[in-house]
Amino acid sequence: MDTCIRIALIPGDGVGREVMAEALPLLDWARARGRSLETVDLPYGADHFLATGETLPEVAFASVRDGCDAILFGAVGDPRVPDGRHAEEILLRLRQELELTVNHRPCRSPATRLGTGLDIEVFRENTEGPYCLQGSTEPGRAVDLAIHTEPAVRRLLEAAFRRAARLDRSLTLAHKANVLKHGHGLWLRLFVELRREHPEVDARAMHADALLCALVQGPMSFGVIAADNYLGDLISDLCAGFIGGMGVAPSLSWAPHRPFRCATLAEPVHGSAPDIAGQGLANPVGMILSTALLFRHLGWDPEAEAIEAAVARALESGARTRDLGGTLGCAAMGIAIRTGLR
Ligand code: NAD
Ligand code: IPM
Ligand code: MN
Repeated sequence: MDTCIRIALIPGDGVGREVMAEALPLLDWARARGRSLETVDLPYGADHFLATGETLPEVAFASVRDGCDAILFGAVGDPRVPDGRHAEEILLRLRQELELTVNHRPCRSPATRLGTGLDIEVFRENTEGPYCLQGSTEPGRAVDLAIHTEPAVRRLLEAAFRRAARLDRSLTLAHKANVLKHGHGLWLRLFVELRREHPEVDARAMHADALLCALVQGPMSFGVIAADNYLGDLISDLCAGFIGGMGVAPSLSWAPHRPFRCATLAEPVHGSAPDIAGQGLANPVGMILSTALLFRHLGWDPEAEAIEAAVARALESGARTRDLGGTLGCAAMGIAIRTGLR
């Protein structure tokens, strides 16, 4: 008998809630196949913040950290909270305080619109860089500090090297060490060190500006791309653009050193999409593929593969939400995917 996996559910705001509704039946389906899991519903997001003043209360944070194994997350962000305080105190806090250093953002077929074969995996450091949120606005100038620490950078790079070796794909480090001599200098030094330890990986470092041009001109020639938090955020959205847009890109974050019981978070790459929220138009594919990533991380490979195959089948059969040129709503797309689930 498997140990029971506890998954905290945080739908959040906007389309986060709509796409989460299409992931939940997959949890029931896994349970029906004998996987032992239970869920904990957490209501945190803009509505809760505006009604109560709470973002993520201490007791809830501690219950996730020590009492759950994983988090399934929709999205946060709401125009009624223009400074994004709740997003910071919910999502960024979970990533940082649970030390979820590695953010894996694969962009691959079957969702690709570029034909078969586009297969890029972004490994984004998920807790540091300018996301340390230290800075100041002063008269006539503004400061954002970026902190990069050796343990986190090493953890991210090790995960990227291991993944590239496993896939037998190239690894490219995106950096700007020509300008960011200290922070990205650290990235480059550790990258060169690890490259010596992984002679089996075809690894190169590129200035991020040149990399972006090469990526747009020839995305098929890239395999794994490693980057710091800020560049990784940008590169992963660009890569999402290659496979159909924000609605189809999944992500999984984890803490390889497992400092706490809760060591993984699955979330789509997209945000709360206020422009389409509440209309049932969101594409649930990114959320559903994130759930598959989570299942694989839990060792539930058959379920992960079945979900990915069902997404491919639905897209091949022409099922499309509006962002992909179709007419299906979020719930109908979820049903189209689940219909092909075997
Ligand atoms: P966004 O990803 O929410 O939206 C960008 C564009 O992609 C919009 O045109 C939107 O309609 C479209 N889009 C996004 N998700 C989609 C989906 N599932 N199906 C179809 N189309 C989709 O980014 P944004 O507009 O820059 O940000 C909106 C809010 O979301 C902000 O508050 C931002 O901070 C937040 N945000 C949160 C996360 C997260 O929770 N992980 C990620 C990105 C942005
Ligand atoms: C993402 C988002 C977040 C980020 C925002 C909402 C803070 O863009 O998950 O990619 O920048 O990490
Ligand atoms: Mn982003």
